[in-house]
Amino acid sequence: MNKNSGRSSFSRSLLSWFEKKKRPLPFRKSKDPYKVWLSEIILQQTQMETGINYYKKFIERFPKVDDLATAKQEEVYSLWQGLGYYNRAKNLHKTARIVSKNKGGFPKTYEDLIKLPGIGKYTASAISSICYNEKNYVVDANVYRVLSRVFGIKTNINKPRAYNDFHKLTSSLAKNIKNTGDYNEALMDFGGSVCLPKKPKCKNCVFKKECFAYKNNMTESIPLKKQNKKIKIRFFNYYVFENKDVILVKKRSQKDIWENLFEFYLIENKNSKKATEHVNKTTKMNLPPPSKEKAFSLLSHQKINVIFYRYTIQKKEDIIALQNTFGMKMLTKSKIKNLGFPKVIDNYLKSHC
Ligand code: ADE
Repeated sequence: MNKNSGRSSFSRSLLSWFEKKKRPLPFRKSKDPYKVWLSEIILQQTQMETGINYYKKFIERFPKVDDLATAKQEEVYSLWQGLGYYNRAKNLHKTARIVSKNKGGFPKTYEDLIKLPGIGKYTASAISSICYNEKNYVVDANVYRVLSRVFGIKTNINKPRAYNDFHKLTSSLAKNIKNTGDYNEALMDFGGSVCLPKKPKCKNCVFKKECFAYKNNMTESIPLKKQNKKIKIRFFNYYVFENKDVILVKKRSQKDIWENLFEFYLIENKNSKKATEHVNKTTKMNLPPPSKEKAFSLLSHQKINVIFYRYTIQKKEDIIALQNTFGMKMLTKSKIKNLGFPKVIDNYLKSHC
């Protein structure tokens, strides 16, 4: 589709596709801002299928915003486990507390919504359009993908100006559409079920006659994404000390990634041999040889190379000595299931504890 042609038919075709093919998502059953907000926050962290499971778990435990507001942070973190980026869970909890105290409940306008912790342009637009039909347009990865492919836009979507360009485009495409919430959801649903990042379903697509990327065999290269910041590479050596049903963990407190999450004893050092020698020297114990496992965690601007060294300690007094030497917490393996861990540690625990 040329940038200037077919624009008026785009939104109509999209909405008529949505009418027939929209997915029966659980949070679509009502326009309850609590449910829409919760689902949108979760969906920023994971794919739809997984997101639905998390959404159901949260709604079952916290049917109303007041239930979430009065929960303990550990419980919120525990339900969030596996989604990563716990700052979102922290803000979810903070916002629930603010809204719960607010006599009018959830704010109803973009301007008021965006003041809440963890609610940015995307979420404020989604809630205000879906629940209150305000004319605010969402720009997420789906929107970048669908619009850049259909209209052949080769803007690097990692460039700061991409947001404004696509926001302008989607707003102008929807100019004559009355139901902004449906338009936004249609665009996201289309991106999530037809115009997929890999193997898009072009054969059955309603835009196949006009789509620039399809016609030019460019669905793999559009949207254009170029990383503009350098990725920092780090090396984490984790020492997992366990004795029968207990294990040593510690809360991260420094201003860094994974703040306030739990982890094992950590030495950050590219030279893993040196790190392990340091541990052996510090303990002055004759530790058994550890089992070793590698993993990594890819964050937006950091790659963390992780090595887990697992020590099975035989004597209770030895694990107590290690606890004291390294200032750790000793917890049972069943208890740590309720704590928040970085995803890479969560995965390790799932397969080892
Ligand atoms: N992805 C994120 N939010 C969505 C929504 N409301 N509908 C469809 N896909 C989505």
